[in-house]
Amino acid sequence: MAFPKQRMRRTRRTAGLRGLVRETRLSPEDFIYPLFVTAGEDVKNPVASMPGVFQLSINHAVAEAERAHELGIPGVLLFGLPETKDEAGSGAYDPEGIVQLATRAIKEAVPELLVVTDVCLCEYTSHGHCGVVHRETGEVLNDVSLELLARTAASHAEAGADVVAPSDMMDGRVAAIRAELDNEGFENTPIMAYAAKYASAFYGPFRDAADSAPQFGDRRSYQMDPANAREALVETGLDVEEGADIVMVKPALPYLDVLRRVREATDLPLAAYNVSGEYAMVKAAAQNGWLDEERAVLEALTGIKRAGADIIITYHAPDAARWLSG
Ligand code: PBG
Repeated sequence: MAFPKQRMRRTRRTAGLRGLVRETRLSPEDFIYPLFVTAGEDVKNPVASMPGVFQLSINHAVAEAERAHELGIPGVLLFGLPETKDEAGSGAYDPEGIVQLATRAIKEAVPELLVVTDVCLCEYTSHGHCGVVHRETGEVLNDVSLELLARTAASHAEAGADVVAPSDMMDGRVAAIRAELDNEGFENTPIMAYAAKYASAFYGPFRDAADSAPQFGDRRSYQMDPANAREALVETGLDVEEGADIVMVKPALPYLDVLRRVREATDLPLAAYNVSGEYAMVKAAAQNGWLDEERAVLEALTGIKRAGADIIITYHAPDAARWLSG
């Protein structure tokens, strides 16, 4: 019975070879680091449910962007917390809105760092939905929202965004945004589309951080049912047809199978969003001494990459980059 034994010992024989037989390599270059930028001066509000994450005024966001760049992280993803909200989410497409101002400031301070902007209305609408809501029925109006989302994306590009990332999940938004960008002279601005975005409990802490919890109802009419995987391929296919340059699966860890299937279905760059709740779980357990934070984070991020992600959006980015650089 020599043959089975040879096979059994393979892991032991090659363990000492380390990097030579390692299949997946995580690097700071894989990461995009999300930042919450808030109106106001010299603000650094800790987000209670996300230890280590803050709502930052522009000066602090610039400092954090500089730190990310020094750690070898190629890009940041900006979310905005406007001073005021209204029914039409007008802060989202205000040329002097919070994300527009932060984009200009970061591009001026660290031009090499990629600025990706979240394109959505939920942080800017008084009702907290990702689109415009019908006054009487409370229904989220898809087509009316498209125009505003397209304007938002163009205003981000105008401010210097390198990539726009629509996260709203309205139907037809990628085509609408592509058309508006092309119209406004931003033919070369890529779209990273949240192609498969599930209606997830793991966005809970984000809604504190971005102050974007829906005031009534939920997002189930426009976000996907966690039970569906084939639907992710349908959604991704539509976004690719509409002109997405990068597609995304979100959240990451409960959806690694979806990530793998999307990886196999498209040759476009694929991003995974390791969301707020995934971050909060690890941080909470680590603070209790129940997990080794460094090992748990690097294992989770390696798993996301192994499943097929080219790009990992993660709040752990600076810590992970430091650990990876040893
Ligand atoms: C919507 C948006 C959400 C997240 C990113 N963009 C929240 C939602 O759909 O409710 C969640 C990200 C996270 O949980 O880290 N603009």
